[in-house]
Amino acid sequence: MHIDTLEKQWAQIVLGICALFVGIIMFDALIHSVNAPSNVETIDSAKLHLSEEFAEDNLGVQQDEKGNIMVRMVAGRYSFFPKKIIVPAETKITFRWVSIDVLHGVHIPMTNMSTMIVPGFVAQLDTSFPKPGDYPVLCNEYCGLGHDHMWSKIEVMEKDQWNLSHLSSADTNGVTENE
Ligand code: CUA
Repeated sequence: MHIDTLEKQWAQIVLGICALFVGIIMFDALIHSVNAPSNVETIDSAKLHLSEEFAEDNLGVQQDEKGNIMVRMVAGRYSFFPKKIIVPAETKITFRWVSIDVLHGVHIPMTNMSTMIVPGFVAQLDTSFPKPGDYPVLCNEYCGLGHDHMWSKIEVMEKDQWNLSHLSSADTNGVTENE
């Protein structure tokens, strides 16, 4: 079969671009740990407030006796709850997200946090914040008329300072509880 030289060249360019994209995805997945959430776990969205794990008192930042930090958040039209949490920088933090109503998404710039929050499922992701500061938390799935206004923020403190402030203000910023 005869293939025109120009056609061959274009085919090579297209294949090259495909290889480049696959390469970028592999690089991010393996080096930057940017992965599709693989945690498949179901939950009854209609009974979230009654369920032990996502009851209101249980939301926010918690630390177990080994020092692992877990954050539980609820997404609902049109915000993320709790409204304010404080976490340490440069520390592995496990986030568990659930939706109270419709499909939402969560994106935190400068971190690997970008996932859908599907009603009926728990979205779990490990992340860390590279440096102290305020990080916006944005909804990136269209969820209704207020979608544009669905955002919140996370306050990130110096790793060393966090332990102190966390202990002294545990009752206002989150619950400290051993699991
Ligand atoms: Cu929630 Cu868009």
